[in-house]
Amino acid sequence: MDDLVKNTNERIFITGGKKLHGSVTISGAKNAALPLMALSLIINKGFTLSNVPNLADTRLMLKLLNDLGIQTKWENGKIDFNGLPLNDHASYDLVRQMRASILILGPLLVSQGSAKVPLPGGCAIGSRPIDLHVMVMERLGANIKFESGYIIGSVPSSGLKGAKIDFPKISVGATESAILTAALAKGQTVISNAAQEPEIVDLVNCLNKAGADIMGEGTNKIIINGVKSLNKVHHEVVADRIEAGSFAIASSITMGDVEIKNVIPKNLQFFLKVLENTGSKVEVFKNSINICAFRKPLPYDVTTQEHPGFPTDLQAQYMTLMSLADGNSQITENIFENRFMHVPELIRMGAKISVNKQKATIKGVDYLKAAKVMASDLRASMCLILGGLVALGTSEIDGIYHLDRGYENIVDKLSNLGADIRRSR
Ligand code: UD1
Repeated sequence: MDDLVKNTNERIFITGGKKLHGSVTISGAKNAALPLMALSLIINKGFTLSNVPNLADTRLMLKLLNDLGIQTKWENGKIDFNGLPLNDHASYDLVRQMRASILILGPLLVSQGSAKVPLPGGCAIGSRPIDLHVMVMERLGANIKFESGYIIGSVPSSGLKGAKIDFPKISVGATESAILTAALAKGQTVISNAAQEPEIVDLVNCLNKAGADIMGEGTNKIIINGVKSLNKVHHEVVADRIEAGSFAIASSITMGDVEIKNVIPKNLQFFLKVLENTGSKVEVFKNSINICAFRKPLPYDVTTQEHPGFPTDLQAQYMTLMSLADGNSQITENIFENRFMHVPELIRMGAKISVNKQKATIKGVDYLKAAKVMASDLRASMCLILGGLVALGTSEIDGIYHLDRGYENIVDKLSNLGADIRRSR
């Protein structure tokens, strides 16, 4: 089967030095769309999602669902889902390409009573285990075993039952797995130490509109009273706060002036405060933000944390900003143990960064220089684009299939803001 993710040998060429100006509209969030799409395995009629970003990862999730027997129609950002899965066996060739495929495990157990799902792949940002997803299934009563690289699950004849799930570590995906699986389990599930990300709130909003009974989303304790079935529902995917944050940094780093539309500012509160502390002017409106900068960024230390802290998904992009700061800063990565793979590439552009375990020390330089660089993961690819936007000369960024996983129409969006950027072989 074709590799849906690594399907391009194009590169991005950027000539640095243009200040970005104008306005950009943010797409729906990949990280909200993926768990919402998995809901189609348990809602069998009249489920539609709009504002779905057209990305390698959402296309892959769609293919995975189609392969399980779900019928879909995707037009202008809207997907109509129909039918229930016809089998319980997820394709290895699809699942290996995306870690978030693990989100289908619970819904398959609910609708089929059994599941055979390969151990997932995805971005190489650490070992990324799935033990917490498995713990969720077992707490809710499923039997799980591992055989030849597959997770094999079955549900006892009495069905899945609500339970207390106390996470030893906060996980976005495992919290979503618990919600997706417990919504239709018998009785009450109480999730403690739950993740609080806006994408989880979006998933719960959609489920509750479909008749689920879930409370506490957006806090660390979520209570789910299982219901018998879910009804038809239409839901609009929440805006992508990481894409919005990436454009905010693009405006700051180029000393531009950009209006970022279709944003929920409160979902970016911590990040926007940090950006203000680096000297950018941040104006917040109801559904948009305006970011401009008139000077080199000030150095400001950050530590990545679960929401509502500084998002790990903006760490790489923020490091590019700090590479040009007027002084030294430190970035501590608390969520993933191997998420500094962009550092050697930024150094190729002239950044001065040293890494000691989870801490990167960044010595601000006066300018970056264009270079040939290789993206190592999704957010790293954006950090290199940001470097290219300000570097002297024309940079060439390879490995951009990572970018296609999570940024919709990025080249057009940046061009429209005045960047000198193109994509070609
Ligand atoms: C999601 C996001 C990703 C983001 C991450 C953290 C999606 C599709 N992806 O990933 O963009 O970077 O949240 O905000 O929404 N862990 C375990 N066992 C598990 C699961 C996770 O130990 O079973 C660990 C991970 O290795 C990591 C930490 O928990 O150190 C947090 O990971 P998690 O929140 O689960 O990330 P994802 O849901 O995979």
